Amino acid sequence: MLDLKPYHLLFTLLLFGIFSTNHACNQIDRDSLSSLAFNRMSSPPLNWSSIDCCQWEGIYCDRKCRVNHIWLPSKGLSGSISPYLGNLTHLSYLNLSHNSVLGPLPKGLFSSLNQLKVIDLSYNHLFGDIFGWPASLQIVDISSNQFSETIQSSFIQRAWRLIELNVSNNSFMGPIPSFPCFNSSFVSLLDFSHNHHSGQIPCGLGACSKLKVFRAGFNSLSGLLPHDIYNATGLDEISLPFNNLSGPISSDIVKLAKLTNLELYGNKLSGNLPLDIGKLSKLKHLLLDENSLTSSLPPSLVNCTNLTKLTLRSNFLEGNISTFNFSSLHQLIVIDLGDNKFSGNLPISLYSCKSLTAIRLSRNQLEGQIQPEVLQLKFLSFLSISFNRLTNITGAIKILTRCKTLTIVILGGNFLHEAMPSDDNIVDSDGFENLRMFSLAACQLTGQLPIWLSRLKKLEVLKLDSNHITGSIPNWLSTLPRLFRLYLSNNLISGEFPKEFCGLQTLVSPKALVNHNHLDLPIFIGPSPFGQIVQLNFLSSLRPAIIVANNNLSGNIPIEIGCLKLLSVLNFSHNIFSGSIPNQISELTNLEVLDLSANQLSGEIPASLSSLHFLNAFSVANNNLHGPIPSGTQLQSFDASAYEGNPELCGPPLPHDCAHIVSNKGDIRDEDNGHKIPWFHITVVLGFITGFWGVCGPLAFSYKWRVAYFQFMDNLKGRCIIFFFKIAYWSF
Ligand SMILES: *[C@@H]1O[C@H](CO)[C@@H](O)[C@H](O)[C@H]1NC(C)=O
Ligand SMILES: *[C@@H]1O[C@H](CO)[C@@H](O)[C@H](O)[C@H]1NC(C)=O
Ligand SMILES: *[C@@H]1O[C@H](CO)[C@@H](O)[C@H](O)[C@H]1NC(C)=O
Ligand SMILES: *[C@@H]1O[C@H](CO)[C@@H](O)[C@H](O)[C@H]1NC(C)=O
Ligand SMILES: *[C@@H]1O[C@H](CO)[C@@H](O)[C@H](O)[C@H]1NC(C)=O
Ligand SMILES: *[C@@H]1O[C@H](CO)[C@@H](O)[C@H](O)[C@H]1NC(C)=O
Ligand SMILES: *[C@@H]1O[C@H](CO)[C@@H](O)[C@H](O)[C@H]1NC(C)=O
Ligand SMILES: *[C@@H]1O[C@H](CO)[C@@H](O)[C@H](O)[C@H]1NC(C)=O
Ligand SMILES: *[C@@H]1O[C@H](CO)[C@@H](O)[C@H](O)[C@H]1NC(C)=O
Ligand SMILES: *[C@@H]1O[C@H](CO)[C@@H](O)[C@H](O)[C@H]1NC(C)=O
Ligand SMILES: *[C@@H]1O[C@H](CO)[C@@H](O)[C@H](O)[C@H]1NC(C)=O
Ligand SMILES: *[C@@H]1O[C@H](CO)[C@@H](O)[C@H](O)[C@H]1NC(C)=O
Repeated sequence: MLDLKPYHLLFTLLLFGIFSTNHACNQIDRDSLSSLAFNRMSSPPLNWSSIDCCQWEGIYCDRKCRVNHIWLPSKGLSGSISPYLGNLTHLSYLNLSHNSVLGPLPKGLFSSLNQLKVIDLSYNHLFGDIFGWPASLQIVDISSNQFSETIQSSFIQRAWRLIELNVSNNSFMGPIPSFPCFNSSFVSLLDFSHNHHSGQIPCGLGACSKLKVFRAGFNSLSGLLPHDIYNATGLDEISLPFNNLSGPISSDIVKLAKLTNLELYGNKLSGNLPLDIGKLSKLKHLLLDENSLTSSLPPSLVNCTNLTKLTLRSNFLEGNISTFNFSSLHQLIVIDLGDNKFSGNLPISLYSCKSLTAIRLSRNQLEGQIQPEVLQLKFLSFLSISFNRLTNITGAIKILTRCKTLTIVILGGNFLHEAMPSDDNIVDSDGFENLRMFSLAACQLTGQLPIWLSRLKKLEVLKLDSNHITGSIPNWLSTLPRLFRLYLSNNLISGEFPKEFCGLQTLVSPKALVNHNHLDLPIFIGPSPFGQIVQLNFLSSLRPAIIVANNNLSGNIPIEIGCLKLLSVLNFSHNIFSGSIPNQISELTNLEVLDLSANQLSGEIPASLSSLHFLNAFSVANNNLHGPIPSGTQLQSFDASAYEGNPELCGPPLPHDCAHIVSNKGDIRDEDNGHKIPWFHITVVLGFITGFWGVCGPLAFSYKWRVAYFQFMDNLKGRCIIFFFKIAYWSF
């Protein structure tokens, strides 16, 4: 600054002079802004130090020095919006998105803001209803708040200049308002998704000739797709997933020649896929999974050459798929035809879609073998063909092992009664080098666990249950550095459970590498005991598990098991394990499921098991256990069936008490009121709690809450809450 040349200084002064005289902000605006106090609501504080409010951070004025823009997105604003905002009568642009502004909008706020054109309040914590928008509005984004009530049609119709309306991700109820297109032909974007809207989609859309994007997914809309939607020929995207829409997709849909995205998955749509769908040549995403569509793949689909994503999973589609020529769909990245009734050979033409990263053909009636042409797919990461009628597992492994990009391979329910490929060389040192999940479950394969599995250094999930695998569990399984979920149940595996499993890094140390990559297609597990199928988008959301039920495993449960600190599910049931239940199981503090039933275990139930606070499914039924069930612990909150079949086990929840058994006080946690909690009280509390879902609901979803709440209940000696845990767990 010191070496400023004189004319520089003069220039600066002049400039400042012009600003200070001509651009000083209007006094009313300045007062209103001061009362609004956005500068103090933000963190760090806004620079509102200048005398001229037109120079304040995020504030812009028109030529007459009236404030017309407030641009304060992502400024860490908190607090609520003051009614003084309504004094900025020249305001045309308000952007407060991505802040933490809270509370309802002040009543009557907009009555004086009749020049407001753009309002973006998205990603805040605003609630209440919306009313009285000025007719001047063109762009409204109030998405990702907590607004509720119904949106009045009158309010929408007033805003006849509206171009974009995004109210998604709120709690709006009632029907979607009928559209303003009678009065305005400007509307180009309507987003009502992620609310609680119900009723039918109103008519009127057909008049919205400029409408490009219509989204109302994740609501409870029902009825047919309104017929005049097919007249809105400007539409580029229709996205209505996860509603309750029914009826057919009209063949008139081909009138929407500009359509690139058609997303109607998760509804009850029925009827045929439109025969002429190929006329929608711009289609990129055709997502119709989870409906009740019948028919075969319309041959015209080959004309949708820009398709990148085609998902038709869980419908009733049928026909010989090998007669469909996929080769023109060369942009295809993801295809999901799973859970339909397609027949024929694995479609070899699919392998000419060179951009494919994910293929699901599972749960159809496909035949044939995996062909070497699959190796043309240089980006293939996800391959699921489970539950078809494929043959030649050895050939399949030989081919697929060379596909370097594969991360998920799910082939279960095929290759019935073939032999597990045992040739050591079938997978060489860099075969399957990126494989994260491998399933050959339910194939009834014979043979032993093949040693080539030990080369899969990135394997996280191994699913080989329901085969005829013999031999023992090899020690090398525990050397797989990323394995955290192992399914070997329903086989003929014998021998002891190897104590070397303590070497499974991912179950021992929380520091082990976890891959949080999004899956190319979701995978589905379940059904849970309550019949739900859970959708997983990340492999890392699976819980660590060792499931070896229903084999011939024998010997003691190794005490080393206690080192698998991160294990959530341990299922040793239906084997011939003997000896006592090791105390060390109580060190598995993350355990949610522990099933030791139907073995030959003896001794008492260690009282220390009651420290397994997250346990919500538990059974030691059908063993030779004896003595009292540790009293005063959540172990008693499980059903009597968890203990039955042990003639010498006693105490609640079993009907026979321990009077005849001399108890060793040291083993039983002596709680003075332990026996005094009458069983019916627990049931009563249960009823009480389920009535209070509103309060307790979050418990079911948040781990931290569960811990905190559990400790709280512990302090109150409120053991009955455990019951609640069991319910909460299965309900998500
Ligand atoms: C605050 O804004 C004024 C006027 O725009 C400017 O001169 C000053 O340098 C700014 N102060 C800081 C700390 O940014
Ligand atoms: C400014 O807004 C406040 C609160 O709405 C109101 O009481 C006041 O009359 C307004 N002042 C002017 C000058 O409009
Ligand atoms: C509001 O600001 C954010 C962040 O700069 C921007 O992404 C968004 O497009 C703006 N909203 C409108 C309607 O211009
Ligand atoms: C509406 O806003 C949400 C964010 O709240 C955004 O994810 C979505 O893409 C927007 N809708 C449209 C059509 O742009
Ligand atoms: C919905 O809003 C919440 C809270 O503002 C946000 O965390 C979430 O990402 C939003 N969801 C969508 C789909 O935009
Ligand atoms: C249609 O717009 C005009 C202004 O152009 C307005 O006067 C009229 O009330 C609007 N109609 C409806 C039904 O809202
Ligand atoms: C669609 O538009 C045509 C004329 O283009 C018209 O005859 C027909 O009635 C409209 N259909 C609906 C349901 O509005
Ligand atoms: C969905 O629609 C069917 C009729 O098609 C109706 O019986 C059912 O109650 C609806 N379900 C919901 C959740 O709205
Ligand atoms: C496919 O997409 C490209 C680029 O988006 C476009 O140029 C081309 O016209 C589209 N093809 C068809 C058949 O619409
Ligand atoms: C694909 O489009 C062309 C040109 O529009 C047409 O001649 C042909 O019949 C269509 N193919 C199918 C299978 O519908
Ligand atoms: C499917 O079509 C192919 C080729 O036309 C044929 O060889 C095969 O037998 C058909 N399969 C079934 C189950 O119809
Ligand atoms: C199994 O597949 C391999 C590799 O494609 C092939 O060489 C072999 O002949 C096939 N075996 C049978 C019985 O078809």
